[in-house]
Amino acid sequence: MSTLLDLPRFIEETPAPGSITADRSATQAAVVFDHVGKVFCGRTGTHTALANVRFDVARGEVFGIIGRSGAGKSTLLRLVNGLEKSSSGAVRVNGVSVGELDERALVGLRRRIGMVFQQFNLLSARTVRENIALPLRIAGAPKTAIDAKVDALLELVGLSAKHNAYPASLSGGQKQRVGIARALVHDPDILLCDEATSALDPETTQSILALLRDINRRLGLTIVLITHEMEVIREVCDTVAVLERGEVAETGPVWRVFGDPQHDATRALLRTLVHDLPADLSARVRPLNDMPRGDAQILLDVRFTGANGEPDLGGLAQALGAEGGKVNFVHGGIDRIQGHAQGRLVVTAQLKATAQDEKSVRAQIATLVDSARRYANHVEVLGYV
Ligand SMILES: Nc1ncnc2c1ncn2[C@@H]1O[C@H](COP(=O)(O)OP(=O)(O)OP(=O)(O)O)[C@@H](O)[C@H]1O
Ligand SMILES: [Mg+2]
Repeated sequence: MSTLLDLPRFIEETPAPGSITADRSATQAAVVFDHVGKVFCGRTGTHTALANVRFDVARGEVFGIIGRSGAGKSTLLRLVNGLEKSSSGAVRVNGVSVGELDERALVGLRRRIGMVFQQFNLLSARTVRENIALPLRIAGAPKTAIDAKVDALLELVGLSAKHNAYPASLSGGQKQRVGIARALVHDPDILLCDEATSALDPETTQSILALLRDINRRLGLTIVLITHEMEVIREVCDTVAVLERGEVAETGPVWRVFGDPQHDATRALLRTLVHDLPADLSARVRPLNDMPRGDAQILLDVRFTGANGEPDLGGLAQALGAEGGKVNFVHGGIDRIQGHAQGRLVVTAQLKATAQDEKSVRAQIATLVDSARRYANHVEVLGYV
């Protein structure tokens, strides 16, 4: 069985001075955003879509870009394959500044960069096979080579049985598999995905993400993906950048950014992943300053960022129950991201009935929080119940 990797490249660009195939050193970043700005000029005035964007996408990684609608995510992606030109700074792909390429060099660049879209962008009057083959046909590849390549791609994306089907008869997930196969026909180094799973149900999303991860590992392809679904980032990305109003709010390994977000924009986006307090608890929780003296339970928000190894819940329970008070884990959970266990638990801890004045209650709470902090990265008192 031939694999995608065994197949010859059908499209050989004539390497021109400064062409993007010229420099492929393993240590070089695949994409560099070097203080990138983008200003759109319209009839109603100018709009700054991107300002001073600075980060690198390492070769072979899956890099996620998140941000709310209008943050500039698609614009950023379109700068990578030269569909847009930066107004300031430079976008470098394999060491070559995209903004400086002429039309001919841009055609070569776009062969090195596949793109997958939310709406699949398939030709409805062409079969699956013809849709995938089209870019090779346009490039003038010989028929036998096209057939071999398309067969390998159909197998890679798991659609061999559907090769003669028309897009209208395919499910959303199958259409996206065709989109991915088509994006890979020129053996690109980089795959750009703009909301590739946003039109799909959760189960289909999972299967497309598994396919992208598989392609990333097997073909060593660098993937840059945009999504508004935090689960997608958590599932497949190595690194994430958070865009907020055209600027990078923060960037880093997914486990670190998700486990310990530093920016309000990140926290707002991650709210979909965080278990908010369930209605019954939030109805019962009262502020500490009107807490009855003694014999009360405080409600603690305990977070694990993944920075200190596996959460020691036994130790935490012992620390909170050191004085013999009852400890209950009432809500939350632990996830694993890139091998780091992180999550949030809501815990109740019993105060001693002996604490009768506000000062000793406060002191007791401070002691509990301090000892809990030896076992968790963040401990916050939500109130009492
Ligand atoms: N061709 C254009 N002309 C003028 N303004 C544009 C153009 N393309 C994008 N913009 C503006 O730039 C900003 C960023 O747009 P962009 O499409 O990059 O956002 P996005 O983060 O991809 O949003 P979404 O999540 O909704 O897709 C928006 O305010 C948008 O209106
Ligand atoms: Mg967009």
